[in-house]
Amino acid sequence: MARIRRPRYLCFFCEDFPFLDIDQLLRGQLEQIAARQLAAFSILCGETVELSPEDLELVLATPSSEWVESSDEVRARALARQGVLLIDEDDEELAELRRRDERLTELNWNLESAVYHFVARWRGVDLRENGADLEPPSSQAVRDFVDAFGAPPPAFYAVEGDRVELPTVTRDGQLYDVLLRRRTARSFDLARDLPLEELAGVLRYVFGYHGFARLLGEITTLKRTSPSAGGFHPVEAYPLLLRVEGVEPGLYHYNGRDHALERIAALDPGDARELAAELVCGQTYFADAHVLVALAARFDRAFWKYRNHPKALAALLMDAAHLSQTLYLVCTEMELGAFVTAAVNNADIDERFGLDGFQEGVLAVCGFGKPAAHPSAFDPTFEPLP
Ligand SMILES: Cc1cc2nc3c(=O)[nH]c(=O)nc-3n(C[C@H](O)[C@H](O)[C@H](O)COP(=O)(O)O)c2cc1C
Repeated sequence: MARIRRPRYLCFFCEDFPFLDIDQLLRGQLEQIAARQLAAFSILCGETVELSPEDLELVLATPSSEWVESSDEVRARALARQGVLLIDEDDEELAELRRRDERLTELNWNLESAVYHFVARWRGVDLRENGADLEPPSSQAVRDFVDAFGAPPPAFYAVEGDRVELPTVTRDGQLYDVLLRRRTARSFDLARDLPLEELAGVLRYVFGYHGFARLLGEITTLKRTSPSAGGFHPVEAYPLLLRVEGVEPGLYHYNGRDHALERIAALDPGDARELAAELVCGQTYFADAHVLVALAARFDRAFWKYRNHPKALAALLMDAAHLSQTLYLVCTEMELGAFVTAAVNNADIDERFGLDGFQEGVLAVCGFGKPAAHPSAFDPTFEPLP
């Protein structure tokens, strides 16, 4: 008899969806009622699956801390294939799901954070239609959106209360100039390659390590130009090089201690551009950059300190966001265009760079390169405030 266990990384929810009332329909009336569907999100498979009350009963009757014998093997096996139960059968796919549950536990993944992270871990999302480059939405499409959902909440925000008027301060210097010039680039110069020195400069000042400290003689914390929760710097940079002088296009890891690129896979230049587009969900204007950098969290390092912690994932996302802002600033100073995007196919990027997604996985992608002479049709024109 097969033995089963409930995965530790599972969440249940109930969804209402509109449904035609069949009784009313037979009486010639069209009436919508809310049908309720029980579902589970299996973190092990990264998928939502519908459950019957009998499925739920079996899952809830099964402990997560020990293996027990199953009285309904057919149902148990079907649920195990969906990552809603674990079954100790000799099958590679089922064994892999058992390993994932063990791995998430060993890595101290917090359950609720795992739900959020794996729900948002995309695969194969492509915003293009029929492979054509993306176009900005038409004014009619924007109008239809506003008609459907109403106008957005106001851009400027004020609260009632006494006001303290502040003096206007104007600071001079390169930092303030760079801050005011920072913008997102969506058009890159396809005719020029990025000099190796410029790639090296960005990597060193954004992702390189500039110092370390030993805490209590045991724990090494690191110094970068961005802050990091606990000084742990668990976010790694994985560049996808498209057009850099003297370096083959391909997938790399940046070693921030040795200031070196470690090649993971070489790519044909044409394949590299299409791969870049796929990784950023078809945003072809970003795929034209000279370099894309996947920001990947080392969950094992972060969760070693913040064990099972409900804030640990938020801290990782903030670390990645700080790195992206530093990248924008360094690129602005170097007259390079830069961007960041959260619309990424994390699961596909993980696979291409050889990351398992559980111990280490991609959070966001940024990129940079020589800007084109003209902005992209996607770029907003910002007017100065009066
Ligand atoms: C977390 C995050 C995600 C973003 N994702 C996208 C994206 O998917 N596509 C895009 O074109 N821009 C993206 N951007 C860039 C924003 O659209 C941009 O910052 C915003 O329009 C303001 O323009 P600015 O950066 O030039 O000031 C993103 C920015 C951030 C911070």
